[in-house]
Amino acid sequence: MNEPTRFGTVTPEVVERLSAILGAGGVSVDGEKIAVYSRDEVAERFWDRPYRAEVLVFPESTRHVSEILRMANERRIPVTPRGAGTGLSGGAVPAFGGILVSFERMNRILELDTENLCMTVEPGVITAEITRAARKAGLLYAGDPCSGDASFIGGNVAENAGGNKVIKYGPTGSSVLALEVVLADGSVTWFGGKRRKDVTGYDFVHLMVGSEGTLGIITKIVLKLLPLPAFGVDLLIPFPTVEAAIRFVPRIALEGRVTPASIELVDHHSLSQAEKFLNTRLPFDQAAAHLIVQLEGNDREVVADETERVGKLALEKGALEVFVADNRSSRDKLWKARKSVAEAIMAYYQNYAKEDLVVPTDRVPDLLFAVDALCRKWRMEAANYGHVGDGNIHVNLLMADDRPHWHEDMEQARQELYETVRQLGGTLSGEHGIGLKRKAYLPQFLDAPQLELMRRVKLAFDPNGILNPGKLVFWDKKTGEAGA
Ligand code: LAC
Ligand code: ZN
Repeated sequence: MNEPTRFGTVTPEVVERLSAILGAGGVSVDGEKIAVYSRDEVAERFWDRPYRAEVLVFPESTRHVSEILRMANERRIPVTPRGAGTGLSGGAVPAFGGILVSFERMNRILELDTENLCMTVEPGVITAEITRAARKAGLLYAGDPCSGDASFIGGNVAENAGGNKVIKYGPTGSSVLALEVVLADGSVTWFGGKRRKDVTGYDFVHLMVGSEGTLGIITKIVLKLLPLPAFGVDLLIPFPTVEAAIRFVPRIALEGRVTPASIELVDHHSLSQAEKFLNTRLPFDQAAAHLIVQLEGNDREVVADETERVGKLALEKGALEVFVADNRSSRDKLWKARKSVAEAIMAYYQNYAKEDLVVPTDRVPDLLFAVDALCRKWRMEAANYGHVGDGNIHVNLLMADDRPHWHEDMEQARQELYETVRQLGGTLSGEHGIGLKRKAYLPQFLDAPQLELMRRVKLAFDPNGILNPGKLVFWDKKTGEAGA
């Protein structure tokens, strides 16, 4: 049972109204189905209680979403939008019950505009389908979150997903030109357009990006595309220490004069989990850390020259070896291992803290020293991997399955880690979002004036606080109140 709140509840009359809007096939009150849809990748045992929507809906058009919101707003019923459920912060978990909106039926690519180099899509399109459709036309969609084979683009936009190509192309938001948005009262508007520049008013496009469904519901997305680079290679570079690996990262740009599409770190612990999970081996897998450096371009000679430069430099800086993956199968094998680390850790550990920390890139060594010290102090292990080129490290703190009071210990270790991150000029999340999971820690990273501004922005967009309540903006835990 959800606790009593200030919100309206989903009565049989509301379900009837929803069925009138969506047709009976567009509405479900099946408890088992609702339970499955009320979760994301955060294991439910990490919440203080299970959160459940009261009704699940499957709109097929902007008009559907608009009518749902108009009705919900009049009755003060919470509305939580949901993509594929690959989120890692509980962003799509319905914290106050209400209506859960699945976008799986709004899954069309509406237009591929090769003249303006952009694509218009509905929020339920799988990210990898966008990549494939662009590639067929000789174009690149640069968003590349690790869950891209399953995630929906709407969720990528709502969380401003990052992924593996951020150093060169930026996170999801850098590829968003325009959004059709249904506002809390059901009105429909477009932010942005098929335009490469726009200072006509506030930048609402990028306010919506990463707003976790708290300001409006995205129903169409115009994505920027680029010419597809003709050649690409991945360098897999093992190092004898994690420190040597991360100290090499800035040399790639400074001495190598190269901007890779990716610079990823996988430490030994992370790699061995992925290898076990996939039943595979990568070369030099006893090394303390591997970097994956992706290079790409349109001129074969240039890419070959850069490959050689980066490889030579790596060996000069202490790399154990440099492996060049330049064909589909070797590249796929590498990335499959990289992309499965998160899932592998969740499969093999019960007691983990899965972090998404960002520090200025020159502080990554300090961050990892601090993690080592924490591990010694708290008698735990860590698996560190992620987007080292962006200073965005997925620190995973791991405690033994049979450790008593692990939860309290982990919470204290986490607090100490966050304090270090703050002192290093870092922040709480680079790409996974705040959601339900990180909400309580927000005041450690955002000051009171900023939190107050966020609250006022929220109230301007959503005066009744019905849009994904409980996320991102401070609220009364019992009532869901974001207002004064
Ligand atoms: C990754 C996901 C967890 O980088 O963000 O693997
Ligand atoms: Zn990541």
